[in-house]
Amino acid sequence: MSVRGRGLASGGLAARLLVAIGLVMVSGIATAWAVAVVVGPALFHEHMIRAGLEDYDEAVLHAEEAFQAASVLSLSLALAAAVIASLVVSVFLTRRVAASLRSLSSAASRVGNGAYGSHVPSPRMGSEFDELVASFNRMADRLEEGERLRARLLADVAHEVRTPVATIAGYLEAIEDGVKVLDASTTEVLREQTARLTHLSRDLAAVTQAESGALVLDRERVDPGELAMATVQAAHGRAAEHGVTLRADVTAGVPAVLVDRLRMAQVLDNLVANAVRHTPTGGLVVVSARRAPDGAVELSVEDTGEGVAAEHLPHLFERFYRVDTARSRDRGGSGIGLAICKALTEAHGGRIRAASGGPGQGSTFTVLLPAA
Ligand SMILES: Nc1ncnc2c1ncn2[C@@H]1O[C@H](COP(=O)(O)OP(=O)(O)OP(=O)(O)O)[C@@H](O)[C@H]1O
Ligand SMILES: [Mg+2]
Repeated sequence: MSVRGRGLASGGLAARLLVAIGLVMVSGIATAWAVAVVVGPALFHEHMIRAGLEDYDEAVLHAEEAFQAASVLSLSLALAAAVIASLVVSVFLTRRVAASLRSLSSAASRVGNGAYGSHVPSPRMGSEFDELVASFNRMADRLEEGERLRARLLADVAHEVRTPVATIAGYLEAIEDGVKVLDASTTEVLREQTARLTHLSRDLAAVTQAESGALVLDRERVDPGELAMATVQAAHGRAAEHGVTLRADVTAGVPAVLVDRLRMAQVLDNLVANAVRHTPTGGLVVVSARRAPDGAVELSVEDTGEGVAAEHLPHLFERFYRVDTARSRDRGGSGIGLAICKALTEAHGGRIRAASGGPGQGSTFTVLLPAA
């Protein structure tokens, strides 16, 4: 039998459980026998004498013999039944425990070898095992997700770099071949493409730094209303260019937050840049600071623009995620802005979320920060 054989040979869990149950049985049997042989008959004898019978009466001896025989027989039968039942139960239990542990350990070694999709079914052995299996499966899921993101990140970086580099190479070749001349419009294209590469490497460095926890925050007490107002002031020109109205909406009595002013401004600038970019002429973008019902501070950027379809909402904060890849890239975006916002907000112990009523319904991006 594999479980007992292996368990006993290797001193595994099954062997230990069996030995423990064996010890319990042996001590139970010893106690029962001691009672039956020593204590029981003496008690019986004493009661016979108290009942007024003579010590060496024939009837007393007979009754005592009958009592002893009956108790030995019933005790033996009961012990035999208990031994068989506990053997069956312990073999069953140890086999199940060992089998569940084996399936868990083989899944762990599969995950160790890179097969992150390995899941373990619930052994149905109570809440402790269920919890263990559930955390194991969660861990495997997280590893799989991390691996998937890593692979996609590399593919995305390669893809983002390929286009500007190919454009630059194409232009240089055309200039060498005399097809194009190095005039203002050519340098403009070359400059734009190098700017895109610079932008990309800067953003990648920023998001990697923020996500790795290596970011050093220069925290100070900051008034959230002031932050909202400064953001609006900084983006005023760009909003006007797009024909978008930009204003701040600050309620009184918003508690201060302990943040790195420049980093938080970077988050809001990113959100406002997105809002302006995705809001058509005549639209409105509002940056607001208020106290959330749970006492936290809520900074939000709300626009009346394109909105986001529900299926895209959960992915917006992933690196390189763009709803409309071609159009966003035309507008200069590489899809890292919101990943930076998320990493920076989380580095401050806050949360960020996106909401939208759907395409054409505008969007709201909200940063929640603990009050100082
Ligand atoms: N206010 C908004 N309204 C509608 N869609 C938005 C809004 N903000 C972001 N998005 C969508 O989310 C995507 C990701 O935004 P993100 O800021 O991460 O990237 P990006 O703006 O395209 O590029 P980057 O910020 O790196 O220059 C955008 O491409 C856009 O599709
Ligand atoms: Mg952006």
